[in-house]
Amino acid sequence: MAQIAVIGAGYVGLTTAACFSSLGHDVICADIDEGRVARLQRGEIPIVESGLEALVREGMEEGRLTFVVGAKAAARQSEFAYLCVPTPQGDDGSADLSYIQAAARQIGPVLPSEAVVVNKSTVPVGSTHAVERVLGRDDVVVVSNPEFLREGSAVHDFLNPDRIVIGSDDQSAAVRVASLYIGVTAPIIVTDPASAETIKYVSNAFLATKISFVNAVAAVCEAVGADVKDVVLGMGYDKRIGHEFLRPGPGWGGSCFPKDSRALVHIAESAGYPFDLLRGVISVNEDQFHRVVDKVRAAVGGSLAGVKVGVWGLTFKARTDDTRDSPAIRIVELLTEQGAEVQAYDPAVKGSAAGLEPAADPYSVCDGAEVLVVLTEWDEFRWLDFDKVASLMAAPRVVDGRNLLDKPALERRGFSYVGIGR
Ligand code: UDX
Repeated sequence: MAQIAVIGAGYVGLTTAACFSSLGHDVICADIDEGRVARLQRGEIPIVESGLEALVREGMEEGRLTFVVGAKAAARQSEFAYLCVPTPQGDDGSADLSYIQAAARQIGPVLPSEAVVVNKSTVPVGSTHAVERVLGRDDVVVVSNPEFLREGSAVHDFLNPDRIVIGSDDQSAAVRVASLYIGVTAPIIVTDPASAETIKYVSNAFLATKISFVNAVAAVCEAVGADVKDVVLGMGYDKRIGHEFLRPGPGWGGSCFPKDSRALVHIAESAGYPFDLLRGVISVNEDQFHRVVDKVRAAVGGSLAGVKVGVWGLTFKARTDDTRDSPAIRIVELLTEQGAEVQAYDPAVKGSAAGLEPAADPYSVCDGAEVLVVLTEWDEFRWLDFDKVASLMAAPRVVDGRNLLDKPALERRGFSYVGIGR
């Protein structure tokens, strides 16, 4: 079993630390935020992530998982140092590497001889070698081992991955990293660092492309009178296409797709390839936010000025409390800009978001509302009392941005219903 330092206790770092400790390794997880570390030391998990709390507690109780302030303290006795720090979007769309570089500068002088530094953060092609230069150590190898974790199922995804990608020019370092995944069954792809870094970006870009594609198909369905649900079903049975990641919605968002797709455009164009296809994917996504707003405006007769709008859902998808780059937030902002009075409810968002204070329950946002807009696919929305919703609203109208609700059942109750692509 190995001694692993995980630098960064965000979604990726915390999941990586907890899962490696559950596989039997000794893990020290470091963060620069003293408050966050203190909470983690008390067993308090700062994020909503299924199964994570149990794994963290188990690791701490069994003495295999500890939390410390600062990367140096974690790296000192570690055979492996996983860099799981943020790579936010820079002003020009490129990925900002300052956190990675700062972490590498701190751990460089203290890492034991023969340690392996692993980039798990999503970093531009060439960063593995850039980290090597910052570390300034001939006896330490840097390996790329990108994450493919979905928020909400990150623990499951870590322990049951579709594949493990390892990028290194040093075969023995690659084998050492692969051996950390003892007990995990998955194909392992060992390649060079640039290819591993590229795999991560293009996987996200391809998934974003699928969603923009289906959102464009939904627009075509609306224009020609087809039902996108049946169209996707019919497409998906072709094994080359598949059913997954073809749910039309209000657009894609979250902490990865928006920044990573822009970063890939930047990487490609800096290297001389104008990635017009991906630019199109991003622009279809922007259009989708406006298309949802247009539907809401049309539902209330053409103007949103002074119109009360109830919104269900603020997170970028269900089963997370994350509102970073959430399509729902963007749509609420656009509605507000057009004069709507928005009241929103989300089961996982308690503090202020998009400049508004979320309501405590889903019914209160319907009170006097001229239209109800569903923006996140929380399952619980499907089981609410729609007779009560209708009686509270000024007019029973729904714009279902996730095709979540039962259209015939709502229409039977007198609602006018508008979905996406149907
Ligand atoms: C994503 C990748 O899936 C993961 O592999 C990577 O490591 C990080 O980025 P995540 O950001 O958690 O994970 O979200 P994901 O579940 O992929 O959804 C991204 C966005 O696409 C969400 O806004 C979601 O609502 C939207 N989406 C997804 C759709 O609109 N339709 C779909 O069919 C699937």
